[in-house]
Amino acid sequence: MPVEPNTPKKRLLVTSALPYANGDIHLGHLLEVVQTDIFVRFNRLLGNEVVYICADDTHGTPIELNALSQNITPEELIGRVHKNHSRDYAGFNISFDIFYTTNSDENRHYAELIYQRLTEKGLVVEREIEQYYCEHDKRFLPDRFIVGICPKCKSPDQYGDVCEVCGATYETTDIIEPRCFICGNPPVMRSSRHLYVQLAKCEDFLREFIDCPGVIQDDIKKFVKSWIDEGLKEWCISRDGPYFGFKIPGTDNKYFYVWLDAPIGYLSSTDRWCKDNARSVDEFWGENSNTEIVHFIGKDIVYFHALFWPVMLKNANFAVPASVKVHGFLNVQGEKMSKSRGTFILASEYLKKVDHPQASEFLRFYFGSKLSPTTGDIDLNKDELVSRVNTTLANNIGNLHHRTMVFCQRYFDSMIPDASWDKEIESKVYAAAQEIATHYERCDFKLVVEKIHALGSVGNKYYQDAKPWELVKTDPDLAAQVMVTCVNLIKSLAVFLKPVMPHLSAEVEKLLRREFVWEDYRFSLSNEKMGEVEKLVKPLDTEILDPLFAGVVINDTKSGSETGLIDIDSFSAVDLRIGKVLSAKKVEKSDKLLCLQVQVGKQTRQIVAGIALSYEPQELTDQQVVVVSNLKPAKLFGIQSQGMLLATKDPAGKLVLIKPQREVNSGEKVQ
Ligand code: 2FM
Ligand code: ZN
Repeated sequence: MPVEPNTPKKRLLVTSALPYANGDIHLGHLLEVVQTDIFVRFNRLLGNEVVYICADDTHGTPIELNALSQNITPEELIGRVHKNHSRDYAGFNISFDIFYTTNSDENRHYAELIYQRLTEKGLVVEREIEQYYCEHDKRFLPDRFIVGICPKCKSPDQYGDVCEVCGATYETTDIIEPRCFICGNPPVMRSSRHLYVQLAKCEDFLREFIDCPGVIQDDIKKFVKSWIDEGLKEWCISRDGPYFGFKIPGTDNKYFYVWLDAPIGYLSSTDRWCKDNARSVDEFWGENSNTEIVHFIGKDIVYFHALFWPVMLKNANFAVPASVKVHGFLNVQGEKMSKSRGTFILASEYLKKVDHPQASEFLRFYFGSKLSPTTGDIDLNKDELVSRVNTTLANNIGNLHHRTMVFCQRYFDSMIPDASWDKEIESKVYAAAQEIATHYERCDFKLVVEKIHALGSVGNKYYQDAKPWELVKTDPDLAAQVMVTCVNLIKSLAVFLKPVMPHLSAEVEKLLRREFVWEDYRFSLSNEKMGEVEKLVKPLDTEILDPLFAGVVINDTKSGSETGLIDIDSFSAVDLRIGKVLSAKKVEKSDKLLCLQVQVGKQTRQIVAGIALSYEPQELTDQQVVVVSNLKPAKLFGIQSQGMLLATKDPAGKLVLIKPQREVNSGEKVQ
């Protein structure tokens, strides 16, 4: 373990996946950058050199489409998005050395260079394929520019590659009644020549690569092996123009597919950083460099990072990654992140709505307490967030800190007393340090947090059993020993927590007047003046999280039975009635909720519904709706809600309320 002072230092280049510049940073992105940032900060704390690289992934059809619909250029769009992404990451103290863009000169240079070297190695072939073409707009239509009826569930207005209603993915040629997204005309088939990388030629290299120890975790390795066993397909790296991206040299109107130049962004952003810091990119990406390249990614993009990317690097004479660390998805309150369920929470929303000075570090801590080196999904649960923060941070570590520091202030004149410390506690800390370092190295941050919590408990028990408030009168020397031990233990805890909670650790650094490196976990303090004592952790009340979770709609309809079928009685238990909206208004401080007065028969009910992003209040007046009328009343944002409205969503994800086809009497039963 590289935790001793004379251990040779390493150099690492660490990356998080490049967020797509087509939307905002959400909590799923944050989970990944928090994981990466903890790893990066731990390595820096050890004294290793780490360069942490990230950038916006800026090319491709969705960005072109999005810009088109906003009537701006793609460049304008990615410029705005870059500002927002940078702001959101900074809000969570993510310590990138550079957050760059793939739409850069450097990226064009490396995309062209890698393409040229792949071509020289005979890995690129041309193939002729049939594709949709719009004669009106005079362009080939990529998947996202085709809309039509889903071949599986028959929903209208679905994209050419995926149905947003049933989730099916299909070939563009399978979509029923295809139309051009831009002009609505039916496209024709036309042939076009495209460029393919012959991955199968690199099978031996790939097998060797994924078998290198530490390159990929075991729960992913078997999938990657099975992809290779099934036979590696040729990978199409070209797209017809117009396309927002880099033109392929030597072609008329072909562009590199966004997934070719996206990972090259890791390399080109390093190059930019090197230019800005008078370093050589070869030190990091040169074939013989002794830098460890570590990529953090989600489990949905393993194919690109474990197969395509190493093939590109190897054949273009660059270093290949030492490790690809793969995490699972983030769920919220047990549900997949989804806009219509209110579980799609943005990073900026979290910062705006959680009114607590330590809000961002609490989320870092919470994610840390759940992250382990596996691809299991992670659930963000409101009650658990509150309890983990309060149990470990406020009641355990914060409490030990507060009682110790206030005691020293009061009885030792703000000095760390001149005394020797308890050897047993000291050796417990040293043993824990080895374990914690191992857990950090393995990205097992869950175990790091558990160990830190256990040490905090040791400290609190030691304090409680020693009763310093009595000792100070009967045996002041022993009281001094207790205090010296506790102050040193708090220093160790702050060192151990520093990668996860840099701000909290900085408070302890200020108090103890030094900047911690890993070795500072060792007991060393006595007979020193302390700085100002301030409370380390302010507890988190559950109400503080209400605004963030107010729009979350929990799916209670999962059936317990194996078949998922219900009987007629279960259905009849739900009393559905026709109601008429009398009035609606926005719920203050919530952008998702509306408060409606709904007439159901002779009653008027107040219903709070998460539809504010889909409806203006005034358009709802006099509309008939379907009300779940025997739902237990609940409070949302402190407002009583007596029922629920039935809704579905349109292809854009907007909610659409269900109503009877013809006007019927209010209060009528739906059956
Ligand atoms: O999946 C995504 O959101 C991609 N933008 C990730 C790219 S990672 C890397 F390859 F650039
Ligand atoms: Zn068209």
